[in-house]
Amino acid sequence: APVVVAIDGPSGSGKSTVSRAVAARLGLSFLDTGAMYRAMTWWMLANEVDVEDAEAVAVACGKPVIVSGTDADGPTITVDGQDVSGPIRGPEVTAKVSAVAAVPSVRARLVELQRGCAEVAERGIVAEGRDMGTVVFPDATVKVFLTASERARAERRAAELRAKGVDEATITAMAADLARRDAADSSRETAPLAQAADAVLVDTSDLTLEQVIDRIAALVEE
Ligand code: ADP
Ligand code: CDP
Repeated sequence: APVVVAIDGPSGSGKSTVSRAVAARLGLSFLDTGAMYRAMTWWMLANEVDVEDAEAVAVACGKPVIVSGTDADGPTITVDGQDVSGPIRGPEVTAKVSAVAAVPSVRARLVELQRGCAEVAERGIVAEGRDMGTVVFPDATVKVFLTASERARAERRAAELRAKGVDEATITAMAADLARRDAADSSRETAPLAQAADAVLVDTSDLTLEQVIDRIAALVEE
């Protein structure tokens, strides 16, 4: 059976960076499932759906056509044919994505797409998110739960934003938003962020990116 590597963890633990690098190194596909929840949220906002109204979100969530390109050397995401990779990282989507992701019919729809991506991945896939090991790929070859101290995660996000030229007030606001989002993701009823019983815990607080990538690649090659 093709390899499935399931990587979960809170925001800023390194999931996207590490998963993409592991996939590129091992010649596997790469799937950023957070980008799919962000794309769904972007569409809801663009179409003036009240994202605090779970019923309205549930009714609308079947409409957008969301397509993930899973090449680790250049992942893509489109909604109704439009490239949304830029706008889905903005503060408007970031502020609302947890509310949209808590709606069960949104999750049912995106989980189906995620499993479809794994099915068509030729050599296998590294999929990262909040529920890869617990819900989407319960039989994954390797499961990893990535963590880092809240401080390390906030500092990494701040460094990324600073490099982009974002002002300090926005950086402080985004740090508060990160903590709020992690709490929401961990406490929701459907597929809360959680470590699968058979997942390997990797705390990245005091590791370099290279060390984390090496460790996970080694788990896959075992
Ligand atoms: P997530 O997908 O979990 O939100 P990202 O991969 O988007 O995390 O962001 C993590 C950020 O932290 C990246 O900018 C990455 O380069 C940086 N980083 C620094 N050191 C590490 C480390 N040891 N492990 C993982 N990420 C690290
Ligand atoms: O970039 P960051 O790590 O902050 O977040 P992300 O991975 O892009 O995910 C954005 C949001 O999508 C999360 O805060 C969750 O609310 C939701 N999500 C989810 O519910 N399940 C997943 N498998 C992935 C993301």
